[in-house]
Amino acid sequence: MTSNCRRPEHAGPPDVYYNEVEAKKYSQNSRMIEIQTQMSERALELLNLPEGRPCFLLDVGCGSGLSGDYLSEEGHFWVGLDISTAMLDVALDREVEGDLLLGDMGQGMPFRAGTFDGCISISALQWLCNADKRTHSPPKRLYTFFSTLYSSLSRGARAVFQLYPENSEQLELITMQAMKAGFGGGMVVDYPNSTKAKKFFLCLFAGVTGALPKALGLETRAVSNQVQYSGQRSRFKNMKGKSVKKGRDWIFAKKERRRRQGREVRADTKYTGRKRRTTF
Ligand SMILES: C[S@@+](CC[C@H](N)C(=O)[O-])C[C@H]1O[C@@H](n2cnc3c(N)ncnc32)[C@H](O)[C@@H]1O
Repeated sequence: MTSNCRRPEHAGPPDVYYNEVEAKKYSQNSRMIEIQTQMSERALELLNLPEGRPCFLLDVGCGSGLSGDYLSEEGHFWVGLDISTAMLDVALDREVEGDLLLGDMGQGMPFRAGTFDGCISISALQWLCNADKRTHSPPKRLYTFFSTLYSSLSRGARAVFQLYPENSEQLELITMQAMKAGFGGGMVVDYPNSTKAKKFFLCLFAGVTGALPKALGLETRAVSNQVQYSGQRSRFKNMKGKSVKKGRDWIFAKKERRRRQGREVRADTKYTGRKRRTTF
């Protein structure tokens, strides 16, 4: 891993970088929407939530709510925390379904013990590795974040972070502080051999030990006992086109979930989920 000078974290503190202009650009960029949605999908899969009931989730660095939208789509309730008012304003304008909170994750999570069934965070954690103020110590801020997150989660819950580490030292620092705060788990690297598709997911377990989930992509070597490279499926193969999930069964399941949440849902008919004829 080498350092990249085009990283947004190098441009300034997150609340300055994600200003009104950047926040608007971010949430209207179709490529960004697609990527955030795909990574949220994978994070939710790695959370391994109990089937058949909506869960209460935390989205750290929720930004404009693209990741949160996916949680809502999957029938879950969520609270999003972010340091950028501009990003949160965009989320409000987009009328996301989650509750939004302005806050700095480096100062800790302000929630009651055991509040959440799980936590996701998409493309945000690496920001904590920078010291934006003279008083900032990245190891301390990471530890404060992880230890307060640990207590916000119900026992047995997981937290999954998709992140863009700058180098292996950052990876090590992040993992070490998480373990020090009491979490089990480690890093799962999807598609380790592809520069483009490679993705890092830190999978943390609160109060339980367990095997790390399997990574996606080609089977390769394990770098340390906390980093797992392997793979069986290539579920994201069709990622460029429409989601592979949006078939008839998926639509029925989604409608059912929404009914369970007491939301208004159109009645099922023989046309539900049917492929439309293309007209030219
Ligand atoms: C790449 S964006 C991800 C946005 C989000 N997942 C979405 O779907 O729109 C990263 C987000 O992390 C937030 N962030 C960075 N550092 C943070 C911190 N210390 N505390 C809270 N949020 C932070 C930024 O403000 C930004 O909104």
